[in-house]
Amino acid sequence: TPARLIDNFGRQVTYVRLSVTDRCDFRCVYCMSEDMTFLPRDAILTLEEIGRVAQAFAELGVEKIRLTGGEPLVRRDLTQLVDFIGTLGLKDFAMTTNGSQLPRYAEALFAGGLQRLNISLDSLDPEKFRRITRNGDLNKVLQGIDAAIDAGFTGIKLNAVIMKGRNEDEVLDLVEFARSKGIDISFIEEMPLGVVSDHQRGETYCSSDEVHRIIEQRYALSACDSQTAGPSRYHRMADSTTRIGFISPHSHNFCGDCNRVRVTVEGRLLLCLGNDHSVDLRPILRSHPGNNEPLKQAIMDAMGLKPERHHFTNDGDVQVVRLMNMTGG
Ligand code: GTP
Ligand code: 5AD
Ligand code: SF4
Repeated sequence: TPARLIDNFGRQVTYVRLSVTDRCDFRCVYCMSEDMTFLPRDAILTLEEIGRVAQAFAELGVEKIRLTGGEPLVRRDLTQLVDFIGTLGLKDFAMTTNGSQLPRYAEALFAGGLQRLNISLDSLDPEKFRRITRNGDLNKVLQGIDAAIDAGFTGIKLNAVIMKGRNEDEVLDLVEFARSKGIDISFIEEMPLGVVSDHQRGETYCSSDEVHRIIEQRYALSACDSQTAGPSRYHRMADSTTRIGFISPHSHNFCGDCNRVRVTVEGRLLLCLGNDHSVDLRPILRSHPGNNEPLKQAIMDAMGLKPERHHFTNDGDVQVVRLMNMTGG
């Protein structure tokens, strides 16, 4: 039986989010600033190094790996990493993507053993979509969703960050869209990571309770089980298989059940999305090229650094300077 990763608060880490790039073809207002400088190539882990990190975690009892970005599918040769992680025997292997490259990659990802896709979709209106993503093409994402369905993915979920004045009027349209495709959807409260330009976070905050009330104008929702071991609280409607999730870091803190850590593309193991506690795995990877034991020891030792909770507020104040594209959410 593999070793287990347990922190000082008795929480077991079973879920790792690996960011494979800080780059993205979109510039979502809540995630990035308009003019981003990205990491130089020698600062980022190779795909082989990311694979070693994945394997180390799997050997330490992790059951679920999610690839994130930036946008994971802009990383060249990513399908090679997917093929490798697909052989590790995980219970759950997933990716969070903006969907724009899925027409090209959905089939290869499915063939490589990726099991689930979370696809960000904040608007169904091309103009609003363009404003939120700063020039993203809605059509490509819609084609990406269809490509994922056609490739055979059954575990597809949409992610929508709801913001006052930007897309709160689209909650019901997004629910209808998810129903029509037979896929799930999660509504997310915006989190204050990093300083972003032309976007006033404090003014756009919309609580999950408000989103819930909008949906209940049309559908009665009943709470149901989470099967994903993620932070979403799920609900269903009487007449559909679509599940509606709420991710509510502000209004329903879920830190007490936290089961996850993150690794940035620079190889920094982050113990919490909302804090800076971290361990740099890159020098350990690079000074022990053929041996994963020191890496596993460093990961086990890091568990003692996992903080109890985040301290996000919804007034627009930034507590963590790092932008979301460094952690992939
Ligand atoms: P499932 O595996 O489908 O449950 O996905 P997930 O919700 O774990 O992952 P996804 O990448 O789709 O993330 C959705 C949202 O949840 C993003 O906005 C993440 O930033 C947020 N999120 C995920 N984990 C945490 C966490 O530990 N803390 C906070 N505050 N937010 C999180
Ligand atoms: N607050 C909440 N969600 C965010 N995401 C990106 N930035 C933020 C933020 N500041 C979401 C994306 C994607 C997921 C990885 O996190 O929309 O669905
Ligand atoms: Fe790109 Fe995702 Fe950030 Fe949007 S939220 S800019 S799609 S990484």
